[in-house]
Amino acid sequence: MGIKNKIYLLAYKLHRKWLGVVCRGKNLAFKRNIVCGEGSRFYMNSSVTNLQERDKLVVGSNCHIRGELFVYPYGDGLRIGNNSYIGDYSIVRSGGGISIGNSVLIAHGVTIIDTDSHETDPAERDRSFRNLIKNGHPKTPGSVKTARITIEDNAWISYGVSILKGVTIGKGAIVGAGSVVTRDVPPYTVVAGNPAKPIKQIPP
Ligand SMILES: CC(C)(COP(=O)(O)OP(=O)(O)OC[C@H]1O[C@@H](n2cnc3c(N)ncnc32)[C@H](O)[C@@H]1OP(=O)(O)O)[C@@H](O)C(=O)NCCC(=O)NCCS
Repeated sequence: MGIKNKIYLLAYKLHRKWLGVVCRGKNLAFKRNIVCGEGSRFYMNSSVTNLQERDKLVVGSNCHIRGELFVYPYGDGLRIGNNSYIGDYSIVRSGGGISIGNSVLIAHGVTIIDTDSHETDPAERDRSFRNLIKNGHPKTPGSVKTARITIEDNAWISYGVSILKGVTIGKGAIVGAGSVVTRDVPPYTVVAGNPAKPIKQIPP
């Protein structure tokens, strides 16, 4: 093994050992705005923004977070169970309430947002957007459409998926790569496409 590879390997091991582990209540930056169980890891690319009280962003035990977790100043926050995974460049933003269960696998490049974030009316949207840029996120959603997202235990969300407001993904369901999920997915069902439609069943 060349010297460059050895240095890379050492850096990688150090990163895994020290930088990747932030969820043992020791890392003050995270401790302030997240409740997190034992053994969960936040990796280099991850980011956490919680604009509410600490208990509005809860991550269970043994989770692996590589993407972005974001809680708006309004709504019921974001809750992730145990042993779940969120891949690189995946975004989970909660302005209504998002619940992700146990052993849920979310691949890379997935977008899960329970709010439209902006108003339908163009003039109102323009006003609000300029206000947001100037003063930050408002304290209430106003007329922005927002609806809870629930992802039940053992679901698997493939890469490049978008999950829109108001959707429940059932236990053990699979969402195919690149799908746009606009309606509920029943348990143990594979869906794919835009908008995502059932393509097969999985034995529970
Ligand atoms: C386009 C959008 C604003 C429309 O919201 P809405 O008016 O509440 O629309 P509805 O949820 O009532 O959906 C109406 C129909 O269009 C379909 N639909 C909605 N959005 C869709 C999308 N992005 N792709 C495919 N189909 C879509 C729905 O399945 C529904 O079809 P159905 O009646 O046959 O079931 C919303 O779906 C959306 O894309 N939101 C994200 C906005 C965004 O990017 N915000 C910034 C985040 S940072």
